[in-house]
Amino acid sequence: MSYLFIKNANELLTVAGSSSSPAVREQMNELSIIEDGAVWIENDRIVETGTTPDLEKKYADKLRQAQVIDAKGKVVAPGLVDPHTHLVFAGSRENEYNMRLQGAKYMDIMEQGGGIHATTRATRKASFEQLYNESRPRLDSFLKHGVTTVEAKSGYGMDWEVEKRQMEVAKKLGEDHIVDVVGTFMGAHVIAEEYKDDPEAFVDIVVNDMIPAAAESGLAEFNDVFCERGVYTPDQSRRILEAGREHGLLPKIHADEIEPYGGAEIAAEVGAVSADHLLKVSDQGLKMMAEKGVVAVLLPGTAFFLMTEAADGRKAIDAGVPVALSTDRNPGSSPSTSMPFMMNLASLTMGMTPAEAITASTINAAHAIRRGETIGSIEAGKQADLVIWNIPNHLQFTYLYGINHTATVIKRGRIAFDNGVIV
Ligand code: NIG
Ligand code: FE
Repeated sequence: MSYLFIKNANELLTVAGSSSSPAVREQMNELSIIEDGAVWIENDRIVETGTTPDLEKKYADKLRQAQVIDAKGKVVAPGLVDPHTHLVFAGSRENEYNMRLQGAKYMDIMEQGGGIHATTRATRKASFEQLYNESRPRLDSFLKHGVTTVEAKSGYGMDWEVEKRQMEVAKKLGEDHIVDVVGTFMGAHVIAEEYKDDPEAFVDIVVNDMIPAAAESGLAEFNDVFCERGVYTPDQSRRILEAGREHGLLPKIHADEIEPYGGAEIAAEVGAVSADHLLKVSDQGLKMMAEKGVVAVLLPGTAFFLMTEAADGRKAIDAGVPVALSTDRNPGSSPSTSMPFMMNLASLTMGMTPAEAITASTINAAHAIRRGETIGSIEAGKQADLVIWNIPNHLQFTYLYGINHTATVIKRGRIAFDNGVIV
């Protein structure tokens, strides 16, 4: 048995109380803070939280054998969860960024064969080793920013062999790296270039061939689709998500990013775990998501990087939708691995309080990948994934913006990152 004791936290943000369903409305502001907080950890599990004097007394017998971390003057919070990334791909697209800065539009670049198509060409050419070697540093960077679990989508193959390779790389990275990786199949990211003139034929391939194979492979838990004009229509998206569900892949959707297109409504209809983006979501869509408890995964970095107005996080929370945050890490619309920066943006561009941004990046993000029972809060029985932040209170999290406040990351009860160094 190994013991780890974290003590003297100025604020211990347990974010307790929302393990069985995500936090909504006022619950998102409740971080269940323990001042002078402490956490007792045995092996990879959280055993108890409380005040430092209480736990020191209770565990006095075992304390001599324990590794002790003094979090004096700091905030201790659950490890951050990033529920929406395109982690595995080859190449990068700073050339398109430069074009956009001179007026080119993201969707136009894609329609002209760049964008997702450009990354698909690079990814199709890449070997397993190349994909692994290019993607692994991104996981390191997540870890340095306090992230302990990420979701990772395929979607730069649009061809089964390549989609599978991307998911195999994601799985291997999850096995080799201390950060956990959760797999999503996204064969319906765009219509493959070869099927430009016959999109329905490609949808048939996704539905009849790829989805059954993805489910069979055991490499994915979720099935995602980019529902947007010029990509997948609402009808095609519904068909793809229902096919996934029949094979046991839970639905997720890239919805209403560029224009209101009915994506949120489809998410509610098919019982999606999350609907993501939602910059242009309709009021009806939000209402339906709230009724069905579909998590809104908001991606403020994508709006920032595409220089558009962010999703209205305030409105989504006030409508009763459980809100989560994510980087959307990808080479085209959001090449950042900084969840803390997304939290800054959530406050400064989406009207979310620091407490709401923290809930959205911990317990609600865990729910967005169906992990609410095991991670996302600091509660007895949960996996010991926590971060010690170099700030004295949680308001400073998004107040001191653009700064990485990560001091120490604990993953499954082990120190994974400390004082600038991956351990
Ligand atoms: O979530 N919106 C669609 N897909 C990604 C972008 C992928 C890319 O540009 O490579 C997104 O923003
Ligand atoms: Fe995305």
